[in-house]
Formats: sequence, structure tokens, C-alpha cells
Amino acid sequence: MDEMIRIRGGHKLKGEVRVSSCKNSVVAILPSVVLASEIVKLYDVPEIKDVEILIKLLEKLNISVSVKDDELTIDPTDICNVDLLDEDVMKLRASYYFMGALLGRFRHVRMYSPGGCNLGPRPIDLHLKGFEALGAKIKQDGNIIEIDAEELEGDDIYLDFASVGATINIMLAACFARGRTTIENAAKEPEIIDLSSMLNKMGAQIRGAGTSEITINGVSRLKGCIHDIIPDRIEAGTYIIAAAACGEDVTVSNVIPQHIEALTSKLEEMGVKLEQGSDYVRVFEAEELRPVDIITQPFPGFATDLQQPLTALMTKANGDSHIEETIYTERFKHCKELNALGANIETRTGESLIHGPTPLKGSDIFATDLRCGASLVIAGLMAKGETCIHNAYHIYRGYDSIVDKLKALGADIE
Ligand code: EPU
Repeated sequence: MDEMIRIRGGHKLKGEVRVSSCKNSVVAILPSVVLASEIVKLYDVPEIKDVEILIKLLEKLNISVSVKDDELTIDPTDICNVDLLDEDVMKLRASYYFMGALLGRFRHVRMYSPGGCNLGPRPIDLHLKGFEALGAKIKQDGNIIEIDAEELEGDDIYLDFASVGATINIMLAACFARGRTTIENAAKEPEIIDLSSMLNKMGAQIRGAGTSEITINGVSRLKGCIHDIIPDRIEAGTYIIAAAACGEDVTVSNVIPQHIEALTSKLEEMGVKLEQGSDYVRVFEAEELRPVDIITQPFPGFATDLQQPLTALMTKANGDSHIEETIYTERFKHCKELNALGANIETRTGESLIHGPTPLKGSDIFATDLRCGASLVIAGLMAKGETCIHNAYHIYRGYDSIVDKLKALGADIE
């Protein structure tokens, strides 16, 4: 069934929207429970499709998960290491964290390769090289990956690129490796700090998360814990951009402003007036927007996940904005859809040029991936008339209650 979001654009947004917990944290935290020998409780878990799928995969491993409102109680005491040859594995990227976690706990994992948003090539060679450095042997047969190790032994691992996924997967596998593992040129994203602080509560010995050098001293057992997940910086950024595009006075709460500095400073450069508190960002109506140039980079640089939403706002700026995308050079499928609404965007591998200002007019458009979907929602709010966003399931993978949150701000959306 085509899941569709319908928006009648042109309404001013006003009020407060609370950001949910972080998708890219929780999708690493859930598989990491494989390493625990006792119950783990998670608070404020976002209601998103990726979480639903990961819970199903945990249940396949005989881990019991009970959900009460936004609280999850996960009991891994009867865990059983079965092959994860299930189509659910291919529905999201983060299923690859079961590789590191199951390898760490059982020294054996057999599962499908992960799926996730189609953003062009997304290899996992750095994850696999990391596992090999710890002593694992890898076999690949078509779409099935099998990883085995007699013993896991700590090592110094240098990542050719500061990959979020590889950093996390190596951290997971190394928790139970003998001795000390060092990850150099590690990714510094806040989600890595969140996972490491949870693993440390469970008894892991991880130092340096959030810097480019992480050390993990192996332990033999991890206990349970209670953990509050950090707020989602990409969801926060999406609402801040939506408010800049069509807000009158919007407060985005449950935000860690330091996590989105690259975005807020660009918005200020565009002429958006912001007020930042310790846990909120208030966005005022902008009179005129200036064009800007951005380059996506690993954290703390400008997040690739926000370049698609920001593109929608750039169509309103007075002049040409330029985006250089260095993380996923093919992450521009949203531009064709925005052009269908009246935008004038040129794309080439690794870059887009947004000629503004162009008024947008509602039409039927298609979400091709999660953040493309977020970009189209913002464009739909800006556009005159009715916009129907098809394949909205991409959006529900990562945005908790997006329709209700925007409705509460005054959007005409269903
Ligand atoms: N890369 C390799 N080899 C690897 C791993 C990565 O060449 O073994 C390359 C990728 O092809 C890409 C770059 O390194 O060009 C960055 O990839 P990274 O591993 O950092 O990304 P990821 O772990 O696959 C996570 C988020 C993405 C987010 C990126 C970058 C999760 C589940 N996904 O992906 O989130 O865009 O980091 O910040 O955490 C999203 O939320 O919409 C999303 C796509």
C-alpha cells in the first residue's frame, strides 16, 4: 500500500515541538544489548519503523522485549545465536551492528548484508577489516556474510575514513576482545559517545569516544543498565529548517545546541534569527534569506543528513546556493522531486546548485529515502496548494510522529 503524506502548504508554523530521542543512537544501542547478560531498560525510545524492525530481530535471537509507552525493557538472559537470514535485516542499515555484537559475544555470526537508504554505494569494508584485525575470518557468499573467530585479540586499527558504522561495530566487537583495542581516525559523532556511555554503564572500558582515538580494554562480561538516549540532532535540525522556511515563532525543544552548531551558524548566515538556550532553539520569522554554500563533512562538520532538508529552504534564498556532498556523492534524489514543485536545482556527482528564489507549487512527489522525505515535507509546507508525498514509509523509518508534531504547530498535514 502506498503510504502518503498530504500537505496543504502556506500555513505559518507557531508553537513548540519536542524532539524525540536519537534514531542513529537507538539503532546502535538495541543491537548492543546482545552483549549484556542482564536486563537493559531504555527510556524515551522513539516510535519509528527502524526500532520496530530491530526489536523483531532481537526477538529472533530469543531476547525478550517489552514495550510500555516509550520505555523498553530488554531481557537478553536466554539469548540464542541464530543466523539472521531474514528479510528484515535488509530493511535497514543498522542491522549491521548485529555483526559486531554477535561476533563479540559468540565469536560467530551469519547474517544477510544490511540494507538502508539508497544513497549510492555504501560499502562495509572498513567494518570487516576491523573485525579481521581483531582475529576474525570472514566468508561472503552472495548476500550472506559469515564471521568467525576462535579468539578476539585487541589491536590498533586505523580507519581510512572516519566511518560512524565501522567505529561502532569495532567498538562492539572489541568489548570482549582480549587486551586493548585502539581505533584511530575514529568517527566523533555524538551517537558514538551515547553508545559508549551506555556500554561503560554496563561495565565496558571504553575511553575517548567523541575524539579521533578510542581505546577499548576488553572485559569478560557486561551487566544490565538503565539508559536515557540523547535527543536526535537530525530531527531537531529538520524542525529548525522547517521553522526557518515557514515559521512565525517556533521553539524546538529537547535539543543539544552544540550538536547542531554547523547548521545553526549556516542558518544565521542565511539571515534566520535564532535564540538558543541550554536545551532549545527558538526560530523567528525571517524577512529575507541570503544564499549560502555548504560542504558536508563528518561531525562536527555540516551533517550530510541535513543537506537534503536544507536544500528545500535554499530554494527560498535570494541567489544561488551551492552544496558539496563529500559523504554520499549521489545523495541528490530529492532535487528532482523539488524541481517537480518548481525549484531550479542542477546536480552533478557530489554537488548541487540551487538557483533561488523559486516559489514552490504543490504536486505529487516521491520520497526516495528518509532525508529526501524530510526535505519534501518542508517543501510541501512551503508550497502553494496541495502536495502529496508518496512512499512516505521512508519518512516513518526515522521521524517519530512527524505528522502530529507538524499539525500541532499549525500545519495542514495528514
Ligand atoms: N564507508 C566506506 N566503507 C565502510 C564504511 C563507510 O567506504 O566500510 C564510506 C561510506 O560509503 C560513506 C562514508 O564512508 O561514503 C560514511 O559512511 P559512515 O560509515 O560514516 O556512515 P554509516 O555508518 O553507513 C551513518 C548514519 C547515516 C549518516 C552517516 C554519516 C546510521 C545507521 N546511519 O551511516 O544516517 O548519514 O552515518 O553521518 O547511523 C540517516 O540517518 O538518514 C543516515 C543515512
